Formats: sequence, structure tokens, C-alpha cells
Amino acid sequence: PRPIILDCDPGHDDAISLILALSSNQLAPLAVTTSAGNQTPDKTLHNALRVLTMLNRTDIPVAGGAVKPLARELIIADNVHGESGLDGPELPEPSFAPLAQSAIELIAEKVRASAIPVTLVPSGPLTNIALFLSTYPELHCKISRIVLMGGAAAAGNWTPAAEFNIFVDPEAADMVFKAGIPITMCGLDVTHQAQIMDEDIERIRKIPNHVAKCVAELLDFFMIYHRDPKWGFEGAPLHDPCTIAWLLKPELFTSYDCWVGVETKGEYTQGMTVVDRYQLTDRPHNTQVLSDLDREGFVDLIVECLTAYNQD
Ligand code: BDR
Ligand code: CA
Repeated sequence: PRPIILDCDPGHDDAISLILALSSNQLAPLAVTTSAGNQTPDKTLHNALRVLTMLNRTDIPVAGGAVKPLARELIIADNVHGESGLDGPELPEPSFAPLAQSAIELIAEKVRASAIPVTLVPSGPLTNIALFLSTYPELHCKISRIVLMGGAAAAGNWTPAAEFNIFVDPEAADMVFKAGIPITMCGLDVTHQAQIMDEDIERIRKIPNHVAKCVAELLDFFMIYHRDPKWGFEGAPLHDPCTIAWLLKPELFTSYDCWVGVETKGEYTQGMTVVDRYQLTDRPHNTQVLSDLDREGFVDLIVECLTAYNQD
């Protein structure tokens, strides 16, 4: 199995991403670390512990990360994810505690100890990843790829130009895109195609295990924000699970390689990912940008992953 570290800010779609990642024996999650984003850092950490408790995976080491972005005040998305960050289902209280060490130390320890280069899978603001990369340059060679949810080649979802995760900590994102490590960017271009419809939620609800029931309830809540007609969506975009879907079944996606930079100073464009789609500069390719998705195949994969919990 491919060793991965999930750095997340649960968050409904982050929680579903964790659930999918832990369902498959193709992936070996070495640790879960939490970032501040969808909710305050205490809540995202608490939520990661609740999800792992629900999954009976208290063997996975968890550590909390940076409490705010590198150079800015924290912005949260409680309008999307609610007061707890995971409003909707009833989740158990954590039956285990996070480690005393920081997210950055835990990532370093696991990367150093892994015989196989590790894939980092961030699904929140990139603060922890940037701090890890700048603190431990000697470990860059042990990271095989960063598969991140963030950015967009086209329009943003938090500002006209910026996607939420990159907007929250553009300085961190800038460092990550400049680090020289291969990046797969699951941006809004593809995650807005990863829409889960009402009938898909009903299909998930019928899977006979408590994990699928919880996912259906997470989706019920996640739908509320995305029903606003301004988005023009039929369903709710499952942003973060695109990272795991790409790791499990890359053939569901199409992509192109190019240079991507992060705008940290623009008047209107702070946090924008500038995607050189047409190779208008001679800047070297640093990113594989996902561009299209087989939506039906994506939903089938989610159902397959959730069905794996039947044996528990
Ligand atoms: C991203 O922002 C968060 O609200 C989601 O969890 C996802 O990671 C989408 O822009
Ligand atoms: Ca997220």
C-alpha cells in the first residue's frame, strides 16, 4: 500500500475523505494531522478524533497543527460546515487523545521512518505543509508527491479569484507550490464536477453499515449550503474526496501538467492559483492540474469504499 499522511480541517468533505482513505487497503495512512480552516483549530482536531473514533481507528496517530495562517488572521467557513465544523450527524466523543507533539513533528517523524517515500494529502489550508517543508528540507526527498485539494484554474469559490483553502493561507500555498515536489492539484475545476446528487445520497444511505449512514447525514448537511441557486449546482461538490479518488483510481480523471503560482499580493486576486494552462511563460511545470472527472465512476467508487465497511 501507498503510505499517505492526511492533513485536514474536518469539515464535511474532509471527513468523507478520511473515511474513504481508511476504507482501502491500497492506502496506508501513517498519520492524520489537522489544520485551521473550516473551523477553529481546536474544533478541526476534535472532529478528526471523532471521525476516527466512529471508524474504530484509534490506532492512527493524530496531531494538531498551526493555529493560524503564516501571516494572516484565520478565516473560517462556518457558513458551510456549521458551528461544530461537522454539523449534521451525531458523532461519538473521541475515545482517544491527540499526541502531544505538533502536526509538523508528527509528519517529520513518520516521513523519516517510512521505507517508501510518502504522499502528503492536504485538504485544508497549507499552513502545516509549508511549515513542515521549511523546517525539514532534508526530508523533501522522502515526499513522493503532494496531492492537494485547493485552487482553481477558472473561478474561485471564496472570492471571484480564489478557492477557500488557498485564500486562507496564500503565503503557505506559495511555499508549497515552489517547493519542487510534484503536486497534483484537485482544484475547483474538477471538484465542481464531483457533485453528489440527492439520488446518490439515497444510494449511500441504503448501504447497511453505520459509516455509510454517517456519510449520508454529512451529505444532507453539506447539501444545504450548495443548494443556493447562485452556484448553479444540481448537487454538492465533494471537493476533498477527489484527492483520495485520484489516488485510488486516477483513470477517473484527466489532467495536464503546467506551472502554477499563487498570488499573495493582488488587489482582487489574493489567494488565486495562477495556472499557466497554455504555457505562456517558460516557468517549469510544477503541477499536474486535474481537469475532468468521470462523475458516475466517482460515485461508484464512493459506494464501493463505503460498502467495504459492511464487514465491521
Ligand atoms: C475547500 O474548502 C473547504 O470548505 C472544503 O473542506 C474544501 O477543502 C473547498 O474550497
Ligand atoms: Ca477541507
